[in-house]
Amino acid sequence: MRGIALPLPSTSGEVSLEETLEKRRSLRSFSPDPLSLEEVSQLLWAAQGITGQAKERTAPSAGATFPIELYVAAGAVEGLPVGVFRYHPVVHRLEAVAATDVRPDLVRATGKQDFIGLAPLVMAVAAVRARTRKEYGERAVRYVDMEAGAVLQNASLQGVALGLGSVVVGAFKDEEVKQILGIEGQERFLAMLAVGRPGRQEGG
Ligand SMILES: Cc1cc2nc3c(=O)[nH]c(=O)nc-3n(C[C@H](O)[C@H](O)[C@H](O)COP(=O)(O)O)c2cc1C
Repeated sequence: MRGIALPLPSTSGEVSLEETLEKRRSLRSFSPDPLSLEEVSQLLWAAQGITGQAKERTAPSAGATFPIELYVAAGAVEGLPVGVFRYHPVVHRLEAVAATDVRPDLVRATGKQDFIGLAPLVMAVAAVRARTRKEYGERAVRYVDMEAGAVLQNASLQGVALGLGSVVVGAFKDEEVKQILGIEGQERFLAMLAVGRPGRQEGG
């Protein structure tokens, strides 16, 4: 696929895992400063980047069925136009899905969680449960939810290591979010992660 190439992710950093765990706190007050494309690349890699020869990813996956699909709604990212993008882990690229700022619509679909409108980036975690159901039947529901949790935590801890903050958003109207992000077919939306730099109220 063509799309937008992301900078190569780094596999080393200066903040220890223990520090990221100790510092992680949900952030809902974002500075208007944009994120860099390097930061977005790093967050996506942490969430679902390819790290193994059989295309294994940073997060574990039941039976390596890889049901997760990741999207980002970019509101303020240097080097990325405003819009919605799908992440393609194998080529580490973004595919444009929509060219509008969907954050105000996401605010409405989440029962007016206004901070989403100010987050420079909203990551959306979707899944095709059928991929995992083929192997595991009904247990796939819990397996896919567990996997989404690992993905969100990976991205969240990576954010801390980059000096960013985030919050998981699980309260939203499923069908509305699906429409807003322009997603069709079997994909189901599971959660969002609003990401940005800490705003003034939160010590930034
Ligand atoms: C599955 C899940 C869904 C959540 N949904 C929301 C949400 O819709 N809005 C929100 O502001 N925070 C949401 N949160 C964040 C929690 O409110 C937060 O993690 C909790 O208050 C503990 O604070 P901490 O994350 O700073 O430790 C969610 C967290 C999880 C794990």
